Amino acid sequence: MVAKALEVRPLTETFGAEVLGVTLSGEISPDTLAEIKALWLRYGVLLFRGQAMTKDDQVGFSRLIGPLEIHIRAEWLNDTHPELLQITNIRKDGKAIGALADGEVGWHFDQIYLPKPAIGSLLYSIKIPPVGGGTHFADMTTAYARLPQHLRQIVDGRNAIQSYVAFNTMYSTDANATQTTMTPDIAHPLVRTHPYSGRRALYICPGMTVKICGLPDDESRAVLDELFAWQARDEFVYRHDWALGDGLLWDNACTMHRRDDFDGAHERLMYRTTILPQPDRAIPF
Ligand code: OGA
Ligand code: MN
Repeated sequence: MVAKALEVRPLTETFGAEVLGVTLSGEISPDTLAEIKALWLRYGVLLFRGQAMTKDDQVGFSRLIGPLEIHIRAEWLNDTHPELLQITNIRKDGKAIGALADGEVGWHFDQIYLPKPAIGSLLYSIKIPPVGGGTHFADMTTAYARLPQHLRQIVDGRNAIQSYVAFNTMYSTDANATQTTMTPDIAHPLVRTHPYSGRRALYICPGMTVKICGLPDDESRAVLDELFAWQARDEFVYRHDWALGDGLLWDNACTMHRRDDFDGAHERLMYRTTILPQPDRAIPF
């Protein structure tokens, strides 16, 4: 019997898709999993609405996509499930119990500042404010493919410095001394080749990219500003307005994201798993 293909609704002309009729809790058949993986690779962002995942479900499903990263910010991890990074403005004793607590968050790739950056994230909404707090995604495969020639000549074959310290300085979320030692500034190619698809995507973001290697400071600044403006053009962007029970699985190698402001009087709580590439390319994805 031929397995029934999942129903898919593209979210933009180039990337992003809503996947219908899939329950991410409990058992997932091998056929369905293979299809989800193929769709994730093809579309870069997958939306699954109306989910009712337990913490175990979210961790279990995410693990089917790849090994999970335990985020270094131990203070923001879920008590019982450290694979879940809490993204929330909820506070305990005056301290945020999650990452990205308040308001707007600028464009970034999760963990671009690590030597082996994440390949995916699954963000699941538990509590959302009545308005605001939408999450925007930008298609960096298309942004690279359409890059003007003069910029392409600069980015191809060059590295840029990524800085977790810069990100934390921007949001006043400084890591402790040990965590900071674990995350020194690091160079990555400005163009990331996807480990599974081989497709090339722009791999820089205003939140963490501080310098293009091999260029004088002023030239680096000018080119970065031009690239930041380019990569955030409307033609590359999908904006997601959250509903309760939405799960968004994105590809961190070829999409970046940012968050809109929201009223801090309302609680917002999401759980995020962070998915690593398979350690061994010999293992088929
Ligand atoms: C994240 C993130 C944005 C949001 O979880 O990595 O950037 O909408 N979240 O909270
Ligand atoms: Mn993020």
